[in-house]
Amino acid sequence: MKHLIAPSLLAADWSKLPSEVALVNESEADWFHLDVMDGRFVPNITFGMFVVEHIKKIAQKPLDVHLMILEPEKYIDAFRAAGADVITVHYETCPHLHRTIQQIKETGAKAGVALNPHTSVALLEEVIELLDLVLIMSVNPGFGGQKFIYQSIPRVRQLKELIIKHNTETLIEMDGGIGLQNAEKCLQAGADVLVAGSSIFKATHPAQAISDMKAIPKTRAWWV
Ligand code: DX5
Ligand code: ZN
Repeated sequence: MKHLIAPSLLAADWSKLPSEVALVNESEADWFHLDVMDGRFVPNITFGMFVVEHIKKIAQKPLDVHLMILEPEKYIDAFRAAGADVITVHYETCPHLHRTIQQIKETGAKAGVALNPHTSVALLEEVIELLDLVLIMSVNPGFGGQKFIYQSIPRVRQLKELIIKHNTETLIEMDGGIGLQNAEKCLQAGADVLVAGSSIFKATHPAQAISDMKAIPKTRAWWV
């Protein structure tokens, strides 16, 4: 499968949001990545389902909703109703993760779990067969424009091994500090979906930045 590109609107210019959304619609990007932050799980606050609902009206590609919020189970149905196609919750926010994953799937959305940089990949062993997607954070969540944490690369490889072991179709998404300088390494380690905010929207030619990231050949790494 060709890897997917999911531009994060967090880095877009929200004073001209419709044209930023149109840019992604007309580009080679695959999904819209929407970062929902609550000021509690993460130090920053962004937007909620009301904004997702409005983006849904003009977006022509799936909405990949990344919930960086406490008690996400309270809001899953509302985000699905607002138009989320993929709903990702953080492992660190879910004491009843198995139930929360089932809840996402019952809405008809694809279910994802995100791991902070310190959270062990092995903790997903019991639920990997239920998951459509695992998001490996390559920065600490909360802000765009942070420096990529290189230790995330072996974590992707470890997750890939877990997916192969369980023979599931789970996609591996990476998020945070991704650009042309590290995207190929992410893909080699096994990433299927690359989220990118700053490296796309702060580029002189965002559509070209998306094309360049999409064009990277997925060469197999020596360990796969
Ligand atoms: C960080 C968010 C990311 C962020 C990526 O908490 O989850 O999606 O917007 O932005 P860049 O690509 O600028 O690191
Ligand atoms: Zn994100």
